[in-house]
Amino acid sequence: MVISVSHLSKTYRVAQKEPGFLGTLNSFFNRQYKEVHAVSDVSFAIGEGELVGFIGPNGAGKTTTLKCLSGLLYPTSGHVSVLGFTPFERKNTCLKQISLVMGQKNQLWWDLPAEDTFLLNKEIYEISDEVYKKTLHELVELLDVADVLKTQVRKLSLGQRMKMELIAALIHKPKVLFLDEPTIGLDVIMQQKMREFIREYNRRHKSTILLTSHYMEDVKELCKRVIIIDHGKIIYDGLLGDIVKKLATHKKITVIFESDVDPKQLDAIGEIKEYNFPKVVISVERGASNVAAAELLQKFPVADINIEEPDIEDIIRQVFKGKELV
Ligand SMILES: Nc1ncnc2c1ncn2[C@@H]1O[C@H](COP(=O)(O)OP(=O)(O)OP(=O)(O)O)[C@@H](O)[C@H]1O
Ligand SMILES: [Mg+2]
Repeated sequence: MVISVSHLSKTYRVAQKEPGFLGTLNSFFNRQYKEVHAVSDVSFAIGEGELVGFIGPNGAGKTTTLKCLSGLLYPTSGHVSVLGFTPFERKNTCLKQISLVMGQKNQLWWDLPAEDTFLLNKEIYEISDEVYKKTLHELVELLDVADVLKTQVRKLSLGQRMKMELIAALIHKPKVLFLDEPTIGLDVIMQQKMREFIREYNRRHKSTILLTSHYMEDVKELCKRVIIIDHGKIIYDGLLGDIVKKLATHKKITVIFESDVDPKQLDAIGEIKEYNFPKVVISVERGASNVAAAELLQKFPVADINIEEPDIEDIIRQVFKGKELV
């Protein structure tokens, strides 16, 4: 296993302070602490070349876990191993093979062209001229940023900057990549481009990628397997398709009728969710949706009919709300 996490916990100790000057004074002499259990007893393993989605609501513990995995944070307890190393020992051989990209933070030098940061990383990671040139060329081509390589970072658009962040993070060809919301704030077209890049990069280099995102589109398109975390605990680890099968027990059939229909007659087909003539929405069991549609077409004056696949976004929301998965 490239990544293996066992019983990882991370507790933050946060100083508490009452508001105002007196509060400040009081907390100076009598400091109170609160413990935040950001990650509790988390275990999972990821094999070489896997691209896994790591999802959960705000504050679930995703970033904390990724920081522990990339050696930025020391776990409170438990074990983390990446490529056989313990990341927080921060051995060079280990750090050279890992990269963490955070959509909300940047490592690029603001006042210099992105290329200067790449050159700095080239020195830090002791990359040879030849390898640097080749890797940079490949990344620049894939991300289509040749024309802005020499532009001051502060003058780049958000999307361009995010691409440069990726190049800076990938220039040393890490085997393991942690992507923390790489598409945040990007427009839909740029998000799509990012996704294509991530998929292609994973395919080409067999790199192992753990990705967090609040956009279910990212997860749906890129990851077969998802790990869902909530309140610091893993609540699901498995195929995304399996959750859908388990929770999306029903499909929605939307029918437009040509003439009036007695709603009572529709009861036999399924549960009527909305009756707003000429439009009617009926919920039917997943397995029975084709039969139900055929019956509707046969017995009723149907002008238009549409069977909707379950919406992953809705399903994941149900999971976050605490719907049982086991
Ligand atoms: N440096 C810190 N000091 C104290 N508490 C922290 C710190 N960083 C995170 N936390 C707390 O730990 C919990 C987990 O935070 P984390 O950033 O890992 O969540 P997340 O899943 O990445 O959320 P989001 O989707 O909003 O990015 C939260 O309750 C957060 O407030
Ligand atoms: Mg986060």
